[in-house]
Amino acid sequence: MKIVAIVGSPRPKGNTSLLVDEVLKAAAEYGVETEKIVLGEYKVGPCLGHDNCSSFAKCKQEDDAPWILEKYCQADGVVLGSPVYYYNMTAQMKAFVDRNYFLYRHDITPKATCAGLVVVGGGAGLDHTVRALRRFLKLSFDVPDDRLVTLTGYASKVGEVKNKQPLLEEARKLGRRVAEMLNQK
Ligand SMILES: Cc1cc2nc3c(=O)[nH]c(=O)nc-3n(C[C@H](O)[C@H](O)[C@H](O)COP(=O)(O)O)c2cc1C
Repeated sequence: MKIVAIVGSPRPKGNTSLLVDEVLKAAAEYGVETEKIVLGEYKVGPCLGHDNCSSFAKCKQEDDAPWILEKYCQADGVVLGSPVYYYNMTAQMKAFVDRNYFLYRHDITPKATCAGLVVVGGGAGLDHTVRALRRFLKLSFDVPDDRLVTLTGYASKVGEVKNKQPLLEEARKLGRRVAEMLNQK
């Protein structure tokens, strides 16, 4: 069983990334294989809206999106992590979400059966962001509500969550929950 986590923060040591690390560490303790992909470390361009993906075997854009989408599709469980930017996900995460259109146009459904969401904001907009990401996951592989676990928290400065023990514990709980769901499958 494998969890693939996609992180949309441009800060590699930011709060979202640190919480996702806790999620994955906890899941790994249950024997689940994990991989974290930080979108900011790769080139994932925004969808260019050709809208004829289905006529092509591969996306016209030569970037990292195809292999990231492949890993996303092959994962048994997925975790999406994004900070709140203007009441929504970051541009990095939105580019990843939009590039899923290629899968949709090829009738490819990711095989994941459960998901975790990690959303961190400085003060407002957590709900809007969670709603947008949940909607994406529903469209992506119709994740059932009871197999989608969400963690939200407040933090602003880089690494601030390191001092927020309850949030770190919530992240570990999320990791354990996703691992349990995978092991019970
Ligand atoms: C461009 C930008 C827009 C932001 N918009 C919001 C917002 O609408 N609501 C909010 O609560 N925090 C907002 N924030 C704060 C970030 O969500 C917060 O700093 C978060 O901890 C960043 O996560 P990271 O450490 O994982 O990068 C914004 C930050 C930036 C840089």
